Amino acid sequence: MKERIQELIKHIEEVKLKTSEEAEQFRLKFLSKKGEISTLVENFREIAADQKRETGQILNQLKQLAQQKWQEAQQLSDSTKKQSNKSAVDYTLPSEPQFSGARHPLSIVENEIIQILSKLGFVYAEGPEIEDDWHNFSALNFPPNHPARDMQDTFFIDEEIALRTHTSSVQVRLMETQKPPIRAIMPGRVYRNEAISARANCFFHQVEGIYIDKGVSFTDLKQTLYYFVQQLFGEDIQVRFRPSFFPFTEPSAEMDISCQLCKGKGCNVCKQTGWLEILGCGMIDPNVLKASGIDPEEYSGFAFGMGIERIAMLKYDVKDLRTYFTNDTRFLSQFRNY
Ligand code: PHE
Repeated sequence: MKERIQELIKHIEEVKLKTSEEAEQFRLKFLSKKGEISTLVENFREIAADQKRETGQILNQLKQLAQQKWQEAQQLSDSTKKQSNKSAVDYTLPSEPQFSGARHPLSIVENEIIQILSKLGFVYAEGPEIEDDWHNFSALNFPPNHPARDMQDTFFIDEEIALRTHTSSVQVRLMETQKPPIRAIMPGRVYRNEAISARANCFFHQVEGIYIDKGVSFTDLKQTLYYFVQQLFGEDIQVRFRPSFFPFTEPSAEMDISCQLCKGKGCNVCKQTGWLEILGCGMIDPNVLKASGIDPEEYSGFAFGMGIERIAMLKYDVKDLRTYFTNDTRFLSQFRNY
């Protein structure tokens, strides 16, 4: 019997249980009620008393060894089961990128402009892109032979109807239908018959604004626009006003901001001047107020207008205006985080 036990110990030591089936076979063969070890335990009762001590020890050893082997096999198959469950869903894998759309840079800048000015009480207004001569020109004090009416600049549909060349036409529509105080901004697309280049296009986008009330002065205009560019470009920005001319404002000015790239020192973008032209503005001409039915003796107001493309070019360092309109996703997707 001793020999048989020793043989089994050797055998079990060498056995390798790889699958759960092999483990079960092993259990049946050695550890079950009818297995070899049980048989040995039964036979153990009958052996001679002087043999019992020694045989008992190795029999115990065999039993422990077999149990340990089986338990190990059991644990192994448990953990492989867990592993195979894990590989079904691997939570550590990076997720598939989800590509969301991006706002167009012009929309981003337009929204920002609207947001800043709405804090000052300017409300949003819209008007038609196909406009009549009155709203686009005559009511804005353009003399009948003014060059801006020329076929070179304006897309005419017929003698009286054209694609609007600026959103000032919406200002007229507001002044005709509302009583002061009026404080509004009018963003929108405008059209001009220009040769397409890196700096000009046959259409572009503007935001114009007006404020009409009793006692509105040039000081209000300056402070409003100063606050506006500070919000848009940063508090350290500097501004300057240069005298200019528009038929619908008197006096008129163009506002420059200090070049943000060179901080006013002079670079290629600002053509070494340290300044960048950003918008046109002025006090609304009394003739314009009168044409829309507002008494210039009682009310005064200011107006301003800017090109969104130009501001977006300065903000995002866009070199060619045409890239806004070619729908190249390599350009557009850069604005995903704005
Ligand atoms: N309408 C002018 C333009 O298109 C801009 C402007 C608006 C200038 C209001 C002064 C006052 O160029």
